[in-house]
Amino acid sequence: MSLEIRKISGGVGVEACNIDIAKGLSEADMATLKAAFVEHGLVFMHNQTITPEQHIEFAKNWGEININRFFAKVDGYEEIAAVVKEKDQLGNIGGGWHTDHSYDQIPALGSILIARETPPVGGDTLFSCMYKAYDSLSDGMKKTLESLKAVHSSRHIFGEQSSYQEAMSDRLSNAEAATQDAIHPIVITHPESGRKALYVNPAFTLHIEGWSDAESKPLLDYLYQHAVQMEHTTRFKWAVGSIAFWDNRCTWHYALNDYHGERREMHRITIEGSPIAA
Ligand code: SIN
Repeated sequence: MSLEIRKISGGVGVEACNIDIAKGLSEADMATLKAAFVEHGLVFMHNQTITPEQHIEFAKNWGEININRFFAKVDGYEEIAAVVKEKDQLGNIGGGWHTDHSYDQIPALGSILIARETPPVGGDTLFSCMYKAYDSLSDGMKKTLESLKAVHSSRHIFGEQSSYQEAMSDRLSNAEAATQDAIHPIVITHPESGRKALYVNPAFTLHIEGWSDAESKPLLDYLYQHAVQMEHTTRFKWAVGSIAFWDNRCTWHYALNDYHGERREMHRITIEGSPIAA
């Protein structure tokens, strides 16, 4: 059976069915998958029994692999970041709305996250669509945002003085490498789809370029709550072997932390992106 793409939510995300990454994809199926990724920015797959090597090979279909500076690595595989919460840990990685790597001059294309161990219940991930967030703004707001850029940074999250880095020090390291700052348009044109997407996020965006924090806050807060209106979102329930492949330029995600006392282990490969612009 050939690969089939099914919508799974009115908000964001499709499921790729009849796919077995371990067996390899035909050229036609790979083309279908790539087109679905560009169109929807979020593709889920279930029941994938793949080795770390197959995870890496699959990721290379989209570009070069980003070696994560801060996360612990899966043993023997520097390309794969370990996103783990042990039974006795309270904090989780990614437990707030964000898009990865917006602090880089050239933000990562996206990530391929596979579930290796899941809690009996909980540990779902929320996603939100930044195309819809942009499209549903008023013409007046779109016009206002057109000329604005925002400053993003890794320092306050992964740096030495960060309370997040301190709380997660058992799983994060390399705080001295948190030196990335970048300025990006608040609305970008996606390099592959050509669509406009809202490109600020509550984790890594500091303020609007040329505006103080106090001046920036009301507008950014408005955009943040607008971005996660229910009709822009979906909630993904994991099982071992489930994969979420998201595009960082047009989605946000949020790892729910509702499974204290249970273990969750995910393996993430992040793929390098291309320059973004208004
Ligand atoms: C992440 O933010 O990369 C982790 C998402 C998750 O664990 O569901």
